[in-house]
Amino acid sequence: MKIDVVTLFPDYLTGPLGQSMMRKASESGLVEFGVHDLRQWGIGKRRTVDGIPYGGGAGMVLRPEPLFRAFTELQSPDMHRIYLTPQGKRFEQSDAERLAKHKHLILLAGRYEGVDGRVRDRLVDEELSIGDYVLTGGELPALVVIDAVVRHVPGVLGDERSSQEETFSEPLGGGLEYPHYTRPEIFKDPQTGKQLKVPDVLLTGHHADIEKWRKEQSKAATRSRRPDLT
Ligand code: ADE
Repeated sequence: MKIDVVTLFPDYLTGPLGQSMMRKASESGLVEFGVHDLRQWGIGKRRTVDGIPYGGGAGMVLRPEPLFRAFTELQSPDMHRIYLTPQGKRFEQSDAERLAKHKHLILLAGRYEGVDGRVRDRLVDEELSIGDYVLTGGELPALVVIDAVVRHVPGVLGDERSSQEETFSEPLGGGLEYPHYTRPEIFKDPQTGKQLKVPDVLLTGHHADIEKWRKEQSKAATRSRRPDLT
């Protein structure tokens, strides 16, 4: 899979994409990242990329010419083009799974007041928002989408089960995941002196009981923190 990002702040992305699972995904050749500075397609000696909005109003708008040049250069027959904006459809786990099936994603990270309407009409296949809050640009949203998508590219997570039985996934009814525990079995809270124990059922080795307990935990957590998912 190829993932291109068009941005005015490439450094925002190159750091995170060189870490941990994203780094592994690209080093193993499963995913190829391309981070592109929009300014290289800017207009004139000053490499202008923005202008004041027609009709007035605050802030600057990204001009169409640099973006049309960028997308012409990056295009491929398999591309799927995404514009990150708070006006987009809310990005969800199901979108991550769907997008992971594409061979080539091109993400456009906006800045300022947004991009010229002609870019949204002609260059973009879908608009995504990562939540109902406004960030200073689309770079963090692009990273969020990339991370969530790349986890679903086969081979990226070592144990395929880890992307199946997790929060929002079907085995858990689309709800929140159950809590996890590891060693030690008993841990003394240094602040209260209280002995904190791993739930007994997890130590029994009874898989059916453990599964039942996890499903109950998952349901209770979803009901209390995310009733909208029930
Ligand atoms: N750009 C600014 N805020 C955003 C958001 N919440 N989602 C996607 N892109 C954005």
